[in-house]
Amino acid sequence: MQYQVSQNSATDVQASCIVVTLDQTGKLSEAAEAINNAANGFLQARVDAGDISGKLAETLLLPGVSGISAERVLLVGTGDKPQTTETALKVLNAIAAASAKLSGSVALSIHNLANEEVSESWLAEQTAMAYGRSQYSFTATKPQADNDQAAKKAEQIIWLGTDVSSQLEKGEAIAQGVNYARDLGNLPGNICTPSYLAEEAEKLADNPAVETTIIDEDQMEAMGAGAFVSVAKGSIEPGKLIIMKYSGADNADDAPHIILGKGITFDTGGISLKPGAKMDEMKYDMCGAASVLGTMQALVALKPKVNIIGMITSAENMPSGHASKPGDVVTSLSGKTIEILNTDAEGRLVLCDALTYGIDNFKPASVVDIATLTGACMAALGAVNSGLFTKDEALADELQLAARYSRDKVWRLPLEDDYQELLDTNFADMANIGGPLAGATTAACFLARFTEGTPWAHLDIAGTAWGGAGKTKGASGRPVALLVNYLLNK
Ligand code: BES
Ligand code: MN
Ligand code: ZN
Repeated sequence: MQYQVSQNSATDVQASCIVVTLDQTGKLSEAAEAINNAANGFLQARVDAGDISGKLAETLLLPGVSGISAERVLLVGTGDKPQTTETALKVLNAIAAASAKLSGSVALSIHNLANEEVSESWLAEQTAMAYGRSQYSFTATKPQADNDQAAKKAEQIIWLGTDVSSQLEKGEAIAQGVNYARDLGNLPGNICTPSYLAEEAEKLADNPAVETTIIDEDQMEAMGAGAFVSVAKGSIEPGKLIIMKYSGADNADDAPHIILGKGITFDTGGISLKPGAKMDEMKYDMCGAASVLGTMQALVALKPKVNIIGMITSAENMPSGHASKPGDVVTSLSGKTIEILNTDAEGRLVLCDALTYGIDNFKPASVVDIATLTGACMAALGAVNSGLFTKDEALADELQLAARYSRDKVWRLPLEDDYQELLDTNFADMANIGGPLAGATTAACFLARFTEGTPWAHLDIAGTAWGGAGKTKGASGRPVALLVNYLLNK
């Protein structure tokens, strides 16, 4: 999508559609009124006839309106109150849904939605993200015929208002990162393997600001990453630790900020096999990794002046003659021993060695890991909030601020040491599960043992990384928007 800012008027702008608003009392916005005058009262006549009432996010598409340059008018209701970020987002989503498939260009005269709480620049950024969502379709493994409809797309957005071009660009970069993450999450496990993720990371290194390094399973074994290998060795697909270094700071030695994604490209549960129902969904168990790739792609476009390292810890969790068994004890890269009581708690095993590697090698200023880690987090927070776990108040503030701004929401859950004893076992430094209670927290407590002394936060995205059912089922691309905003604020 292309974005342009123009000072043209709503009546004169050349476009396949001009978008204007009215409120719930039926009052046309200034731009809508100008069109109404040019068209001899046609818009007001539609309102008087009850074709649209102006309630929040209601739309009416009117072709062939006389007296103006645009081919169509899209009227959008703004409700009966000043906009909040929540209501404005509903309006923007409705606009994008109603106009994303009109070919050509769409002009928006919606700056009148802005107020003290909702700035015009935020509206512009969210507009670009809304079009990105509306125009997404997954074509990689679906016959082209089914996607003919999806092929028809608006190609240009013209913002009538103040110069918000940098926010439009930012929104577009985030939208592309989100859709890239969605594509990766939607790809099946037989295509999106750890090697596939590694190739994607190599592609990012085409940009001179990014340097990609792949550490393969043999190297991981040689360095003593026994927790990572205990998962990867069960599959014929070789595991990979993927490292993407983005150097944007003026000082190359500035401590980097790490984002680390869980990249289990399929999670069968291993020998602790999962039930069959919905097991296909476990192809999404690499959505943390996908969010790291999507974020890195957006950063390359936005060029912030910070040093960032995107890491992905990737393996396939399979039952086999080489797989770990319940009761096996392995030694992690940190030297701590782990009793694997359940091979389905594999995410924390691949993450803990990646955390140790990242912290020891890069001495980061901060680490945030992103993982579809627990069904317990999904049960607690549903698809609305990602779980946020951290003991670092500054990091919590930064992530919560970015989450509120981007509307890619998080909810803080406890990470107190009182829960640590649930991981105690007679046979190793810790068990890899903590029993039936507080499952999202015990998973986070496990990871905390590998991050001591470093500002670290954990995002459990089990409930937010995908959604829908049947035909609407698919990856959401979360939390790319949150991560990009968090890192841009650094
Ligand atoms: N990938 C799953 C978590 C998950 C479940 C993500 C449902 C998305 C939807 C993770 O590897 C897992 O299996 N976790 C177990 C942990 C348990 C064995 C302690 C779980 O949540 O059941
Ligand atoms: Mn699992
Ligand atoms: Zn998993």
